[in-house]
Amino acid sequence: MNQQIRDKFKTLFGAEPAMYFAPGRVNLIGEHTDYNCGFVLPAAVDKQIVFAVKPNRMGRFRFFAFDLGESFETEEDNITKSDTAWANYLLGVVAQFRKAGQTVPAFDCVFGGNVPLGAGMSSSAAIEVGMAFAINDMYGLGVNRLTMTKFAQMAEHEYAGVNCGIMDQFASMHGKAGHVVRLDCRSLDFEYFPLDMTNYRLVLVNTGVKHSLASSEYNRRRADCEAGVALLQKYYSTVSSLRDVTAEMLSAHRTEFDEVVYRRCDYIVAENNRVVEGCKALAAGDFPAFGRLMYGSHEGLSRQYEVSCKELDQLVDIARKVPGVLGSRMMGGGFGGCTITLIEKSKVADFEQAIKSSYKTPDGREPEIYEVVIGDGAGKLKVEN
Ligand code: GLA
Repeated sequence: MNQQIRDKFKTLFGAEPAMYFAPGRVNLIGEHTDYNCGFVLPAAVDKQIVFAVKPNRMGRFRFFAFDLGESFETEEDNITKSDTAWANYLLGVVAQFRKAGQTVPAFDCVFGGNVPLGAGMSSSAAIEVGMAFAINDMYGLGVNRLTMTKFAQMAEHEYAGVNCGIMDQFASMHGKAGHVVRLDCRSLDFEYFPLDMTNYRLVLVNTGVKHSLASSEYNRRRADCEAGVALLQKYYSTVSSLRDVTAEMLSAHRTEFDEVVYRRCDYIVAENNRVVEGCKALAAGDFPAFGRLMYGSHEGLSRQYEVSCKELDQLVDIARKVPGVLGSRMMGGGFGGCTITLIEKSKVADFEQAIKSSYKTPDGREPEIYEVVIGDGAGKLKVEN
């Protein structure tokens, strides 16, 4: 893959590029908690978007999306939102550097990779994060990882129209092989948690239903949460997000809530607690307890937060019946994409068999199944001759 991208760059632009990568991510638990200033537990994976880049001194940005076989060009001074959806992820990042007062002259870029699109593994975050890392390194701008993470997140808000939290970009930028990242989305303090997978595996199953976060449901969930916060702020001066809310505070004011808003808030408060409990379970090596929390998370996402879909629910139901499965749940924004399942290592083959014999994607195919390998966050690739 890396070699193909590099070769394509040379063919298109006739020069030797610098090479960078940024990974997709999984999230073990803590879904939709990031934009509520809560906790999340993601990890970078070994699936990546790779970038070949070089300044061109031609006054035009020239991009090529390897997987789509499509090109895009624009004037150096004309960075605005484009009708070419994929180009927005790159343009949005250039715009953020410039907003911060950095000089980003025109460059050529070929990018592509093996993070499945629309599968809840954050291919878009990987594109944004990889672009940020490449720009920063190529022009020696000295921007730190956290600031670049925020640039990547703002690119998603402003150029892709999704008011996402920071989890995906953070994991893609800060991931570490063999570790999950326990991130406090309020303080942005984080801790690497070693994950001893000697006896267990994490397996993703792709429903084959492409989620479309931008389709407004995601932003609507955010608004529901904000409505809940606004209500509680009338009573509690300490509340600035759902992170500051307890189950008792919620139930004390239940009758004043819109029913839907209440369910959303109730889920977030419980999910935040599940991340805290989940970290304790992992630290104690109690994988079965962690698995139970994963089921709890799915239940809440499906019934209370209502971001699951029948295919995701079906995959979790199948997983539940397979001996050796400790926990399973939908992962990411929802409405499609993947489930993540924690399973005894020796039972992975049985699990895959069970899935393949009982589930077909909406277009009638066997679902894609990926065993998770936890990798490093964004970086520069060595170019070998
Ligand atoms: C998407 C968003 C993240 C996060 C998850 C749900 O992946 O980009 O910020 O909110 O959904 O946990």
